[in-house]
Amino acid sequence: MVKRLGILTSGGDCPGLNAAIRAVVRRATTGFGMEVVGIEDGVAGFVEGRSRQLTPERFDLGGLDPMLSTGGTILGSLNKSIGEVEDQIAAGYRSMGLDALVAIGGDGSLAILDEKARRWGWNLVGIPKTIDNDVALTDRCIGFDSAVHTVVEALKKLRTTGVSHDRVMILETMGRDAGHLALHSGIAGGADAILIPEIPWSADALYRAVEATRGRRTNAFALVVVAEGAGAPGGEQVAFTDSAGRRRLGGIGETVARTLETESGGRIEARTTVLGHLQRGGSPSPIDSILATSFGVGAVDLVAAGRFGRMVAIRGTRIGSVPLEEVTVLGARPVDPAGQLVADARAMGVYAGDES
Ligand code: F6P
Repeated sequence: MVKRLGILTSGGDCPGLNAAIRAVVRRATTGFGMEVVGIEDGVAGFVEGRSRQLTPERFDLGGLDPMLSTGGTILGSLNKSIGEVEDQIAAGYRSMGLDALVAIGGDGSLAILDEKARRWGWNLVGIPKTIDNDVALTDRCIGFDSAVHTVVEALKKLRTTGVSHDRVMILETMGRDAGHLALHSGIAGGADAILIPEIPWSADALYRAVEATRGRRTNAFALVVVAEGAGAPGGEQVAFTDSAGRRRLGGIGETVARTLETESGGRIEARTTVLGHLQRGGSPSPIDSILATSFGVGAVDLVAAGRFGRMVAIRGTRIGSVPLEEVTVLGARPVDPAGQLVADARAMGVYAGDES
């Protein structure tokens, strides 16, 4: 029986993490009488022995209940490797006396933690979160809906200034190697072109698509959403290696802008906005707060039932669970180029790549 339950957040943060922590703590303590220990900064908390007891009373703050609506994670998170500290992680976990662990992470973090859990016999349950929405075997991850809201708000603002100046406005979104965020936001925000990593695009076809918008409008405005992981026309992603040696995506938006200006012989004037970490900040949308709550409750119920090595997931409207091992083997879930959303975008006259 699980008496002492650990919880940590790992990987890039997103809105809704605190709502998930709140749900885990409330369900575990009031539903099953468990004690919940929050591990700080992902596995760094094991290495450095940093943890704290979490209770519903501590979260309530005189009824204000900020955990439901604040962005970020009160536990802190880790989005990088911390070196050769495997033994310290294992020892830290043991010394905290945990009977089970709930990990809230993206596909990378969950895969790493699942491997450790199997190696060291941890009782692990995963909760998927990421604005990239690319964890396998779940339709939605915590944080995605909030990020879509942020991108759509930005598109609304870019539209008005773009119309005023007859410009093509390019918005570069996050998403790593997956185009879910760009595709969903682009459709919701009325983009004229959506460029994602899963579908190659050509300069000529993009230019023709932008030109075609002029037939429908009284001005020369167009809105283009490009995912940071989309390839340039030659196929290469725009990336750089940071000082920590990590490969980071970014900069494709400016490539798209220059490409359009060149293709048009200078007639098109384009401007690029890179939304960056704004997409990861702020309050969760109501849909994310609900998803975080359901995932938190579901994760604790799995723990209480002794169903370890699983991840809570949503398929359609049904919350269930899937084996973590399968999630890991499948890796990041890309957009299906032949899927409904891409087809619907095209049916709406949106250029979504190819057609060279
Ligand atoms: O995975 C979430 C994400 O925000 C990606 O969309 C993005 O490429 C990356 O993390 C950015 O990571 P960092 O916060 O380390 O810059």
